[in-house]
Amino acid sequence: MTYQELKKLWLSYLAGKGHAIIPSASIVPENDPSTLFTVAGMQPLVPFLLGQKHPAGVRIANIQRCIRTNDIDEVGDDSHCTFFEMMGNWSLGDYFKKEKIAWSFEFLTSPKYLGIPVEKLHVTCFDGKDDNGREIAPRDTECAQFWEAQGVARDRIHFLPKSENWWAMGSGLGPQGPCSEMFFKSECKCDAKCKCNPAKNCGCFTELGNDVYMQYTAKEVGKIEPAKQRNVDTGWGLERILCFVNGYKSVYESEIFAPAIKLLGGDGRHARIIAEHTRAASMIVADGVIPSNTGAGYVLRRLIRRAVRTANANKIDGSIYEKLIKFYNTYLEFDAKTVIEVFTKEVNRFEQTLAKGLKEFEKVKGKLDGATAFHLYETYGFPIELTQEIATERGIKIDMDGFKVAQAEHSKASKAASAEAGAFKGGLADSGVETVRLHTAAHILLATLRKNFGADIIQKGANITPERLRFDFSLNRKLEPDEIEKVEKDVNQIIARKLDVIVKEMPLADARKIGATGTFSDRYGDVVKVYTIGDVSCEICGGPHVSNTKELGHFKIQKEESCGAGIRRIKAVLE
Ligand code: SER
Repeated sequence: MTYQELKKLWLSYLAGKGHAIIPSASIVPENDPSTLFTVAGMQPLVPFLLGQKHPAGVRIANIQRCIRTNDIDEVGDDSHCTFFEMMGNWSLGDYFKKEKIAWSFEFLTSPKYLGIPVEKLHVTCFDGKDDNGREIAPRDTECAQFWEAQGVARDRIHFLPKSENWWAMGSGLGPQGPCSEMFFKSECKCDAKCKCNPAKNCGCFTELGNDVYMQYTAKEVGKIEPAKQRNVDTGWGLERILCFVNGYKSVYESEIFAPAIKLLGGDGRHARIIAEHTRAASMIVADGVIPSNTGAGYVLRRLIRRAVRTANANKIDGSIYEKLIKFYNTYLEFDAKTVIEVFTKEVNRFEQTLAKGLKEFEKVKGKLDGATAFHLYETYGFPIELTQEIATERGIKIDMDGFKVAQAEHSKASKAASAEAGAFKGGLADSGVETVRLHTAAHILLATLRKNFGADIIQKGANITPERLRFDFSLNRKLEPDEIEKVEKDVNQIIARKLDVIVKEMPLADARKIGATGTFSDRYGDVVKVYTIGDVSCEICGGPHVSNTKELGHFKIQKEESCGAGIRRIKAVLE
């Protein structure tokens, strides 16, 4: 089955079941400064999963381009990719487990579709418990019964806990619920002691897809409540399925990578990394990102520079990228000319300093101090993750705390200047002083709304132009005129306190530990920026912000209106 055939098969099957086919959304989420990339097909649909009406109806399907960098170190194995396409379908408060399971079964086993022998099909269902054995929701026997009704024998249905069979976005917030994963069982070489199941990673099971039953929602991490609207959220990895149905051992043998591997002179871990990162970076550039030192631009830079370093170490010259990009363009839609231009510029920039930077490493014995790691970053353009990787290869330890101190000092010194020049990249649409001020005002507004109307209020979106701030948040009712006045007054009082706005970079887990909020902040292990405004607000955010609230002026709400079920919109300005 070819790549195009598989895509067509998926979409036509679901169209036949009444689904509207929608295009893939951008890889860079719109109006959501708190998340870098689209990581799942459901992400652009969150407002509709929460109850807003989708213009295409209640049955939706598509193939969504996604980026996940949490497993970047695994790239080079048989299946992990940072860029992948997700075959998805959604029920927005329409059909539920019974229908979805019947369709998944049909698509997997019917000779008209994937044709997997029923006895090779194993499925998982949620056992009701978290990973400490604590009950968090009912055991999903319903799901198991529907599989059984299709003919999946009971001993091929595995009940597993939350870590395996519960799906929520990385933040733990928003629509979520038990899921059911489908697996192909190959000939098993394990001994009896293994008691193989799909959670064991013993190599006997190949994951085919994931159907999530979003019957819960969480406004606070760990506090789930039944959702008003029960949805189905399906996500099947296109690359993996293509590889599986054609009997390939790795995705690099399939038509979407094999010609790239050939261009690189043959299969090997280094060739896989270069091929995969070039593909992912091309798709990020295609959706409008340029390499930079913050946000999505930084991840893009990391991918390109990692590819360049790997190519360089393996004596593959710089002419390879254009050839690879042209090949990917044979099946992925993008403007190849622009992608090649952006790519080449970044490759050249890095190649000029790569050799010099590597020389610095030669001098290091045992431990790389923080100042040197920062020097490599600042002067030679080595993303810190790349420095860590090279250090690991050479058995060198890095003083990461020292690196962070050096970085924080540097960012403090350059902050005022860069805010004034509007010289930041990424994050907001416009880089002017006005938008930076409104962005900080948005954080204060969210904190104020939470203080006045409940800590469960979450940001649903933000859009900032130099003229105004548009801010969407969850609330089930309209704000009264005196409440609007109170919000304005509170925000202005905070502004008048002349609070410092402080930024720190830290791993996502640490940010959560200190209680930083961030809607949809599924960064999956990346380093995030946390902006703190006095004792008022602490948010994960790409920035940029002013250094002190005294720079904001007078906050004025111009309009408060509904923008969908349970969502309000505030339009505000700084005078
Ligand atoms: N959201 C689920 C996933 O990403 C299913 O689409 O696996």
